[in-house]
Amino acid sequence: MSDHDVDVLVVGAGATGLSAAYALQAAGRTVLVLESRERVGGRLWTEEVDGVDLEIGGQWVSPDQDALLAMLDELGLETFERHREGESVYVGLDGERRTFTGEQLPVPPRVESAMARLTTSLDELAAQMDPARPWDMPGARELDQVTFLGWLEQSCDEPEARDNIGMFIAQAMLTKPAHTFSALQAVHMAASAGSFSNLVDSEFILDRRVVGGLQQVPLRLAERLGSAVRTGHDVEKVRWTDDGVTVTSGDLTVSALHLVLAIPPTAVTRVRFEPPLPSIQRETRQHQSFGQVIKVHATYETPFWREAGLSGTAFSPYEVVHEAYDNTNHDESRGTLVGFVSDLRADAVLAMPAATRREVILASLSTYFGPSASAPLTYFESDWTSEELGSGAYGSSFDIGGLTRFGPRLREPAGPIQIGSSDVAGLGFQHVDGALRVGAELAQAIIAG
Ligand code: FDA
Repeated sequence: MSDHDVDVLVVGAGATGLSAAYALQAAGRTVLVLESRERVGGRLWTEEVDGVDLEIGGQWVSPDQDALLAMLDELGLETFERHREGESVYVGLDGERRTFTGEQLPVPPRVESAMARLTTSLDELAAQMDPARPWDMPGARELDQVTFLGWLEQSCDEPEARDNIGMFIAQAMLTKPAHTFSALQAVHMAASAGSFSNLVDSEFILDRRVVGGLQQVPLRLAERLGSAVRTGHDVEKVRWTDDGVTVTSGDLTVSALHLVLAIPPTAVTRVRFEPPLPSIQRETRQHQSFGQVIKVHATYETPFWREAGLSGTAFSPYEVVHEAYDNTNHDESRGTLVGFVSDLRADAVLAMPAATRREVILASLSTYFGPSASAPLTYFESDWTSEELGSGAYGSSFDIGGLTRFGPRLREPAGPIQIGSSDVAGLGFQHVDGALRVGAELAQAIIAG
């Protein structure tokens, strides 16, 4: 005997699951959302830490993210522009710190030309790809068999150009070393943002933030869904037939006609299925893994860098913190810098004692913004490695060859089970925009079926 019987059971109260549930409820279906954490939002998490509101997870909104922008409107959420006035900072291969304005990094002319050539190549490749079907683009198989690092080395003999272009996709987006994913996966990252040029344009991709934090999206969706959302329910077991599912979480048992598993691929492999999922479904998810990035928040009495004419934006593939931004909250007098430590450097600093790690990270921020950066009022590291349900950030991607080998089967349902998250999005891949698109598609597959 079930405690609940609904049309659709949704597992996971992130942006994907809640938007799917919201669309299904609007279409007249009864829904229940089960979430294992005690909060909704998943990789969206806005929290007060030491008196400062921090975006521990996702935060930025860009002007082409139509699905997210429409949802912000629907939920009555306001946005504000990221502070960007002033000069940005770059530390080059020669170890020199240079300031600049605009998007062109201050590199020697031959490096600039090489970066322009790589940018054109990646834009051309991205233009040939439908981000919903990356495996269909001309030459997909070949691009999926070579690492992004290998492709950069074949395409360009300027190390600093390779390091910068590599940084924008490897450290800054997939948060994996460029030797661990394919050139096709790199092109997909670019195509999912419209182009490689969009992806590297911080004015564009990191344009705005949401007043009150991006977690307002799942929080408000959950508010509208009311008692249909239940937190603290880790779904451990799914029994299924072609006619429906029965799901167990602790002492709760729910039966439903359809199941939407709106959880990252790595979390799918934690769930037991009876009968087992078709082997292709399991294999596909074993080849997707999370990248790794530590998001560091340092708050100061004032945004002191602005007085020095600096925007708070900084980049260097050679620094521990490979990118940093002014992340001062809306209507706040204190100043916050956010910096990112990615992939191999994240592994290295995570192996250090916490005090040493803080020192190393603040030293890197000081290289960009001067000695005042070394003494914040508050300091916080968002470390998603310690989150068992995600085990990384920002999202997951395929290993070499995985996109062409498993991608075409990725979105296939298994009987009444639909699986998806921002990790399988076309447009908006690894972003909230992608999560909302996938949520809408999963709901539509059920409504249409
Ligand atoms: P998500 O992982 O959010 O949700 C899945 C939910 O399922 C979780 O709540 C989890 O607890 C739950 N779950 C898992 N297994 C379960 C089980 N067995 N039973 C029940 N529940 C289960 N994006 C962006 O657009 N702009 C940005 O600036 C950033 N920046 C950024 C920074 C950081 C540090 C992170 C971690 C991420 C971002 N992102 C981002 C990415 C963005 O946050 C992400 O793509 C979406 O929030 C993912 O939403 P989903 O709902 O797809 O998965």
